[in-house]
Amino acid sequence: MTREAGRHFLQIPGPTNVPGRILRAIERPTIDHRGPDFGALCRGILSDLKTVFRTEQPVIVFPASGTGAWEAALVNTLSPGDRVLMSETGHFATLWRRLAERLGLEVDFLPGDWRHGVDPAAIEARLAADSRRQVRAVCIVHNETSTGVASRVREVRRAIDRAGHPALFMVDTISSLASIDYRHDEWGVDVTVAGSQKGLMLPPGLSFNAVSEKALKASAEARLTRSYWSWDDMLAHNVKGFFPYTPATNLLFGLRESLDMLLEEGLEQVFARHARHGEATRRAVRAWGLETLCADPREASNSLTAVLMPDGHDADAFRAVVLEHFDMSLGNGLGKVQGRVFRIGHLGDFNDLMLAGSLSGVEMGLGLAGVPHRTGGVQAALDCLTEAVSADRSNTRKERISV
Ligand SMILES: Cc1ncc(COP(=O)(O)O)c(C=O)c1O
Repeated sequence: MTREAGRHFLQIPGPTNVPGRILRAIERPTIDHRGPDFGALCRGILSDLKTVFRTEQPVIVFPASGTGAWEAALVNTLSPGDRVLMSETGHFATLWRRLAERLGLEVDFLPGDWRHGVDPAAIEARLAADSRRQVRAVCIVHNETSTGVASRVREVRRAIDRAGHPALFMVDTISSLASIDYRHDEWGVDVTVAGSQKGLMLPPGLSFNAVSEKALKASAEARLTRSYWSWDDMLAHNVKGFFPYTPATNLLFGLRESLDMLLEEGLEQVFARHARHGEATRRAVRAWGLETLCADPREASNSLTAVLMPDGHDADAFRAVVLEHFDMSLGNGLGKVQGRVFRIGHLGDFNDLMLAGSLSGVEMGLGLAGVPHRTGGVQAALDCLTEAVSADRSNTRKERISV
């Protein structure tokens, strides 16, 4: 083993870099999860989580990875043989579909090319054709972490409404929550699925279901087998800030810190920061003469960018060069696009200079790995970042003058 000086650049699209404040919070001695201090801590957490999900309704926390929260969303609301409508936006949508099928659900999987988000018109057409109202839920991934494509959730909600269809609406926000604008209540989502290890800046190990009243009603009739994931037990215990089984106490210390950090920065600023980094990264990619996997600029993700390799060049070989020489981990291509794309994660606890460093590693790596490209991507990103600072300054000046 040789020592690497400086810190590792973890630029995969989650788990993300865990800030020192959160690491120090997690490091505290574990406390009694049935004691008064813990109850008070969790009542505060469960209340502040609502701000991040933009909901007035309950948010349930599981000691599990995101896959657990996917399962919880389905088993709490559906019955064996129920039909659900999903859309093939990428690897994670495909995994959620597999999970649903394993649970005994009938999945209607709208085909996709992994370069576009959910097509609201296709959802509307499918639901309008469902005259017997057999589709019980529409389940989509907001931000496809495998492709860097963000679906237009609000548009999908409108499509469901235009079809006048009563299906539940479930949205996976595992790589968008606390980095890309998302509104559980306003967008009429019934179950929002989320995880700790991305925008929330925590290590992996917690996941979430935000649940609407309609979802809670559905859960009273749902017949899929559930025990560990049962919402009723959770909600009953959560009233006093407790859990039906041993919670991940120290990760909850971290979650408290994460919520404090997000609320101190302000959600709007968090989204603006991610938007700036998304835009700067895309400008770098264009300047390199490369292409993003995301084909529609309206759907470009602000939390990660998936970059297509030129024909004949292997993304994993390129990633290995970057790791070896610059101690930076980039995301690999998953499923159908394995070896064809690499993914730059720009979400979580991340600032302009961290982005500049990450893009420098990519540009140097492209050169070392012999991948055809133009130089100047980093400069294009720096120009974008400085433009943003100048715009911000002149806005602040205008505000001062108008005061
Ligand atoms: C969009 C999305 N959904 C679901 C998952 C699965 O979550 P986990 O790996 O935490 O079980 C991931 C993981 O990266 C994801 O990015």
